Amino acid sequence: MELNGISAIITGGASGLGAATARALGAQGVRVTVFDRNEDGAKSVAEEVGGNYAAGDVTEPDDCQRAVDQAADGSVLRLAINCAGTGWVGRVINRDGSPHDLSAFEFIQRLNVIGTFNVMTKAASAMAKTEPGADGERGLIVNTASVAAFDGQTGQLAYSASKGAIVGMTLPAARDLSVVGIRVMAIAPGLFDTPLLAMLPDDQRDALGQSVLFPKRLGVPAQYGQLVVEMAKNNYLNAEVIRLDGGIRMPPK
Ligand SMILES: NC(=O)c1ccc[n+]([C@@H]2O[C@H](COP(=O)([O-])OP(=O)(O)OC[C@H]3O[C@@H](n4cnc5c(N)ncnc54)[C@H](O)[C@@H]3O)[C@@H](O)[C@H]2O)c1
Repeated sequence: MELNGISAIITGGASGLGAATARALGAQGVRVTVFDRNEDGAKSVAEEVGGNYAAGDVTEPDDCQRAVDQAADGSVLRLAINCAGTGWVGRVINRDGSPHDLSAFEFIQRLNVIGTFNVMTKAASAMAKTEPGADGERGLIVNTASVAAFDGQTGQLAYSASKGAIVGMTLPAARDLSVVGIRVMAIAPGLFDTPLLAMLPDDQRDALGQSVLFPKRLGVPAQYGQLVVEMAKNNYLNAEVIRLDGGIRMPPK
């Protein structure tokens, strides 16, 4: 796909992996719409990459439609990258024997799964209305899973369920959208040095880095953005989940 001059919507683009993707795509001449509930952060990243921003919540369908319409206005929307999401720690039964809180489980599915569903479906609908480019291609959707989809650790019931859903949606979404020339991919990151992990003390972050097969360090968010750019440029990549994790296999705890 030719990137220069096309438009992309990036959810969670105010921070971490989404912000790095905004920078990587902006550097390729993509007009980026940063969609995030953190308005100040979204504005700041949008200004840095010469794009625009939409403040809103990915779990709210109307906010998502507004952000997609904004991204599709003025240049052709070809990319939707879903990075908004978060984690949760909670076991099937708590230490006192009480069951996992349902509202926490629902919150994580709503944000990580329904948020991705909202933007994927609305962006695909907008892309399907565009004139196709070379090879009949109309777009690419990249959703963010996690290695927790495969190696869920103790306490990751809700998070792993949500990331397993991202993995599970990849093939059927790619099949559904193949008729309109839209590809669907997912990235399953390992341990990345984003604001999420920056909150940990240095020694704990170092220890996490040592658990990676090679290289023994946390992932750099720019490497996530780099993979999104490669996925966009190489249109023979489709319907697959790629682990981006330095070979890590998460232990039970
Ligand atoms: N950092 C890692 O090591 C890692 C590993 C595996 C998977 N992931 C996944 O990557 C994604 C991005 O993680 P990150 O580390 O960049 O996190 P981050 O906290 O740095 O960024 C997440 C962004 O999403 C936004 N957001 C959260 N809820 C939102 C909502 N309801 N509507 C709109 N925006 C919302 C936040 O404001 C924030 O800007 C998440 O889905 C996370 O599960 C991260």
